Amino acid sequence: MRVVETCAEMMAACRQAARPLGLVPTMGALHEGHLSLTRQARADNVTMAASIFVNPTQFGPNEDFARYPRSLERDLELLETEGTDLVFVPPPDEVYPEGFDTWIEPGAVAEGMEGAARPGHFRGVATVVAKLFTITRPELAYFGQKDGQQVAVIRKMNHDLNLGVEIVTMPTIREPDGLALSSRNAYLTPEQREAAPAVYRALCAAEDVWRRGERDAARVQRAAYNILERETLVDAVDYVSVVDADSMRPVETVQNDLELMIATAVRLGSVRLIDNVVLG
Ligand code: PAJ
Repeated sequence: MRVVETCAEMMAACRQAARPLGLVPTMGALHEGHLSLTRQARADNVTMAASIFVNPTQFGPNEDFARYPRSLERDLELLETEGTDLVFVPPPDEVYPEGFDTWIEPGAVAEGMEGAARPGHFRGVATVVAKLFTITRPELAYFGQKDGQQVAVIRKMNHDLNLGVEIVTMPTIREPDGLALSSRNAYLTPEQREAAPAVYRALCAAEDVWRRGERDAARVQRAAYNILERETLVDAVDYVSVVDADSMRPVETVQNDLELMIATAVRLGSVRLIDNVVLG
């Protein structure tokens, strides 16, 4: 496994690499969710590349950039075990040198949900992912359904800008009690950790109502809110949304022929958890 810190060296390494090349972008603090992506990338490609970069531009001024969990040594060991060929670990000023001033601005797909709650977040995500695609020129790139809107933003950018990457979406990996794996779960107190599976339970309740024939999106959402409101350690529900899985547009009547996503963001103290399920 080769660990590379500069854009120029990564570009050169990828240009020489045997193809197809599969890319797994991450912010590190790797867990089984990330590793499900690297395993698929390993199976699909001749060269498997991963990146570890806590991207400052996708964090808001009051978000957790400074305290985001970092565990580089352990991450590199895990990536090596998974058979990674190339790891890109750039310092921030390698990705954003002095004077950096060009951005990818996603449109309507990034307006609601996480886009509304975290202004500028998807601009930062799209910009760094575009840079990673340009540096590595992957045939395939792997993303988790856990961040459902992020996948939609990247797919739209890839399509609109003719980036030509095959985007592979992998299912959400969960703890046995349903909590979606996330680097941010480490922030939960033991009591909050015990309460956190309510997020997935709420989404399952909404899905269940839909499966039984309810087609009014407000009632589907209500089923999720009912569970979340009963959980005293849930301090705020930023949203429960029923959206078209491609465009992220909210739907009012759940139609059978559309692929839909029910997504939520919930706060337990200072920890913000997101999760979603896909209907259909
Ligand atoms: P990060 O949060 O580190 O996640 C890296 C990838 O792992 C993302 O595609 C994410 O959806 C996926 N992932 C995280 N938890 C998962 C789980 N429980 N099951 C399946 N996949 C999971 O997402 C980012 O980093 C950044 O925004 C990034 C795309 C790297 C751009 O900076």
